[in-house]
Amino acid sequence: MTQPVTDLFNLKGKVAVVTGAAMGIGKAIAYRLAECGAAVIITDINLDAANSTVEEFKARGFNTAATKADAGNVEDAGKTVQYAIDTFGDINILVNNAGIYPFSPALDIKEEMWDKTIDINLKGVMFYSRAAALAMKDKNHGGKIVNIASIDAFRPTGNIAHYNASKGGVVMLTKALAKEWAPLGILVNAVAPGSIATPGTTASITGLSPEQQKEMAKEYVAKIPIGRFGEPDDIAKAVLFLASAASDYIVGTTIIADGGVLLS
Ligand SMILES: NC(=O)c1ccc[n+]([C@@H]2O[C@H](COP(=O)([O-])OP(=O)(O)OC[C@H]3O[C@@H](n4cnc5c(N)ncnc54)[C@H](O)[C@@H]3O)[C@@H](O)[C@H]2O)c1
Repeated sequence: MTQPVTDLFNLKGKVAVVTGAAMGIGKAIAYRLAECGAAVIITDINLDAANSTVEEFKARGFNTAATKADAGNVEDAGKTVQYAIDTFGDINILVNNAGIYPFSPALDIKEEMWDKTIDINLKGVMFYSRAAALAMKDKNHGGKIVNIASIDAFRPTGNIAHYNASKGGVVMLTKALAKEWAPLGILVNAVAPGSIATPGTTASITGLSPEQQKEMAKEYVAKIPIGRFGEPDDIAKAVLFLASAASDYIVGTTIIADGGVLLS
């Protein structure tokens, strides 16, 4: 029996965890999942920002809660999944969104920056996924795990080798976990965003005058075949597809959502 199309994106009864969801891409993902009926746990290291996102979502009638958790901390992975179970009774969807992208030429990089980037962007994806998968297995139901990679996994931007390595790792980890966990009904996939306008990308532009920033943005947009920067919701819609029943036969893939940058 074919599932009616109106049911494919109905997430009522599902519990989702989105890491680093106080703002930026994570917030847009949490919004779409909640809009489709999921109860959504917003995790972030910035609890004040996470709480105000929850207030904003609650005002729209969404079922959400926030918890402070570091995406790079293994202990926090287990605690976050337990928080989802304690708060909403289950975990069905995990989105590993939190990530950092500090710039440094490879010749100057300090061990601390390498470790922090790998911990948050890659190690955390492993251990949050493991904690979620253990709970899904324990509850004897499948689930969906969506990892946020980057087009930097496929083509280096420059001066951010540690980030390239972490996101390349996310793409391969996605395939490896997908292969091991598909027999359990736990489907692992990823989305690789291109250039998305977020608080993080705005903050990463430093030392330029407003005119220089405008010029830089113009030059960059000229390299995007679709002719514009991405919005957080451009990524959220791809994540929604991978978190929904519309993608039930998709295992270990990475959807590139970059307006065509990798083609140029
Ligand atoms: N914005 C882009 O152009 C772009 C492109 C490709 C990939 N990505 C990826 O998308 C994801 C989100 O990026 P963004 O631009 O929305 O980021 P952002 O910096 O705008 O927001 C990130 C959020 O994560 C939180 N956070 C930071 N460190 C954390 C930690 N250790 N634990 C928990 N939360 C933490 C921040 O407080 C913030 O709320 C990242 O994985 C990033 O690598 C972004």
